[in-house]
Formats: sequence, structure tokens, C-alpha cells
Amino acid sequence: MMAPLARRLSSAERIVCFSGAGLSAESGIPTFRDGAGDGLWSRFDPMELASPGGFQKDPELVASWYQWRRRQLLQARPNPAHEALAGSRVCCVTQNVDNLLERAGVPQDRIIHLHGRIDHDRCNGRCGHHQPMDTGLLETDVALQSCPRCGDHLRPAVVWFGESLPEAALMEADRLCRETEVLIVVGTSGVVWPAAGFIELASGSGAHVININPEPGPMDEHCDVNLRGSAARLLPRLLADSG
Ligand code: OAD
Repeated sequence: MMAPLARRLSSAERIVCFSGAGLSAESGIPTFRDGAGDGLWSRFDPMELASPGGFQKDPELVASWYQWRRRQLLQARPNPAHEALAGSRVCCVTQNVDNLLERAGVPQDRIIHLHGRIDHDRCNGRCGHHQPMDTGLLETDVALQSCPRCGDHLRPAVVWFGESLPEAALMEADRLCRETEVLIVVGTSGVVWPAAGFIELASGSGAHVININPEPGPMDEHCDVNLRGSAARLLPRLLADSG
């Protein structure tokens, strides 16, 4: 199974990896949904913790929850799947807000974060201020910060439910998925739109779509090959000879 896929990858000029939370699962970052019922969204209410209304209602609670997730990220290390992407020429379109692709060594211009980045903050008001998270604060109990420019609250620079995806990231992902010869889908449940639509877009534009996931999912029917297994085990094998 792997050898013909690896040959196809080594002869392809353009390869895109479309990833979700499963890519970082083996780094110790929890996924949002999983069969065992211990994904983040079965333990926490996304409308309370990941929506503009939730932040307006209780900014301290939301900031503390993101502080907990940021501490998790600081403890985490890139796994062999991130490292395989760093050692390849693949462009990464990711729904993940972590920075493990960057830390594995994937160049910034080969990563598109469709849902923003948890390691950055932005002003919740209108001033447009944006800054890297203050890692020093992660060792304290202070989670909620004020914008140094206008005094409104700072919030994580991620996309929340009900918000639009960043326009530039959407356009670039759209172009990459239309043009790619191979799309490797890794660790996504494929249920969150518009991001999940990139799988059908690539497939409809003629790409060969390879899916890596230990579980079946709704996007399987849009994929040419469904490889059952973990990202850290399968992605390095798939990319080993892709150049
Ligand atoms: P989900 O949590 O919905 O799905 C994770 C997928 O990863 C599931 O299909 C698992 O079977 C699979 N998986 C688990 N472990 C894996 C492993 N080791 N290797 C490969 N696959 C594995 O995560 P996403 O699809 O990323 O949105 O969720 C999409 C969006 O929903 C997220 O970006 C987030 C969330 O609400 C925002 O934050 C806006």
C-alpha cells in the first residue's frame, strides 16, 4: 500500500497537507472530538469557552481556559509527523492553533493557520493590536490581560465559533487546494466548515487525496485512499521518499 503512494508523492510537484487536531494528539495536545468521549468538546462547552458571547459573559473564565491550554502547549513537543512535514517540501494548511509545525522547523511561508494561533493575542476591541503571548504570565495566576494600546481586553488570536476565518489564509488555502496534485489529510474529523470543504475542493479539482486517521469519518468518501493508523506512525513512512 505505502510503496505506490510514496512513488506518487515523489513524482508530484505540488503536495499539500490538510491537518486537524489528530496531527498533534501524539504530542499530548487533546483533540476536540473522539470516539472515547474525552475530546475537549465533550468535557467543555465551546459556546462558553470559544465564542465571542462566552468571552463577553466571562472573560476571566475564557482567559484561564486558554492559559491552561497554553501551558499544555509549552509542555508539548513536535512528534514524528510534524518532523516528517518539516523534512519535506509539503505545504501545510492546518486547522490547528498550536505552534508545533513551526517548532518542528516547517518554514512559516509553508504554514497556513486557518483557525489562528493560540500563542498570539489580539485586542478584543477595534484597535488592531496583536502580540505574541506573554510566556512569563503562564507561570502566574494572571490570565486576563489588557491591550497595551487601547486598554480593552486581550484575547487569544484564534477563530471562535461564529467568527469568520482570516481572509488571507482562506484565499491562500483555496489556491493551494485547487492546484495541488496530492492532498494528504491528517487527523481531522472533517465536520467543521468552511475548513472541511478544502478536502472536497482538492478532490473536485483533480487531486489524489490520501487520508490518515485511526477512525473512519465523513470525509472518507472524498478520499482516494484511507489509511487507518496514527499520524506519527504513518506520515513519516508516507513522506520518507517524497523529496
Ligand atoms: P477533531 O477533534 O474534531 O478530530 C480529530 C481527529 O483526529 C479525529 O478524526 C480522530 O479520529 C483523529 N485522530 C486522533 N488521534 C489521531 C492520531 N494520533 N493520528 C491521526 N489522527 C488522529 O479535530 P479537528 O478536525 O481538527 O476549531 O477539529 C476541527 C476544528 O474543531 C478545530 O480546529 C477547532 C474545533 O472546534 C476551532 O478552534 C475554530
